[in-house]
Amino acid sequence: MPMNPMELRRVMGHFATGVAIITTRDKEATPYGLTANALTSLSLNPPLVLICVDKNVQCYPCFEESRIFAINFLSEGQAEISRRFATKGIEKFSGIAWRLSDNGLAIIEGTMGYIECRLIQTIEGGDHTIYIGEGISAAASGERPLIFFKGNYHRLSSGE
Ligand SMILES: Cc1cc2nc3c(=O)[nH]c(=O)nc-3n(C[C@H](O)[C@H](O)[C@H](O)COP(=O)(O)O)c2cc1C
Repeated sequence: MPMNPMELRRVMGHFATGVAIITTRDKEATPYGLTANALTSLSLNPPLVLICVDKNVQCYPCFEESRIFAINFLSEGQAEISRRFATKGIEKFSGIAWRLSDNGLAIIEGTMGYIECRLIQTIEGGDHTIYIGEGISAAASGERPLIFFKGNYHRLSSGE
């Protein structure tokens, strides 16, 4: 018998991650975004990443429509942006600093960096869909990361 979903969430919450805002766009070039931590690098050559997107998120159809997305890696002072993009039914981009990239994707200011990706493969994953993207542009800054651990936001303490 499969385990209880809440138990999976509780136990996986012990695996500390960074926090990202995944952005994409619709047919009219309107930007959308969601908070995400179910993502990883997949391959160096070719340069691939994968993200896991809930089939119920508002922008779900945009991934197949635009076949492009960006991963914005939040820095330690950006927990409020994470909360904002994890809240349903609000205008997410108002009140935050962002710009449109040459590829028409929302790039959030003040992050640790971003990767823009072209969608190359889609895989079913239960109530989520796994999107594999090929990196087409990226940048990184010297900021420190926002950490998500056991359901709360944290900062890195320095050292081991
Ligand atoms: C720390 C954190 C990580 C999350 N990771 C993911 C994720 O990897 N994939 C996903 O689909 N939703 C994830 N969510 C939930 C979405 O951000 C949330 O459901 C969001 O409201 C969806 O966008 P929508 O409001 O436009 O539907 C995460 C939320 C938080 C707070």
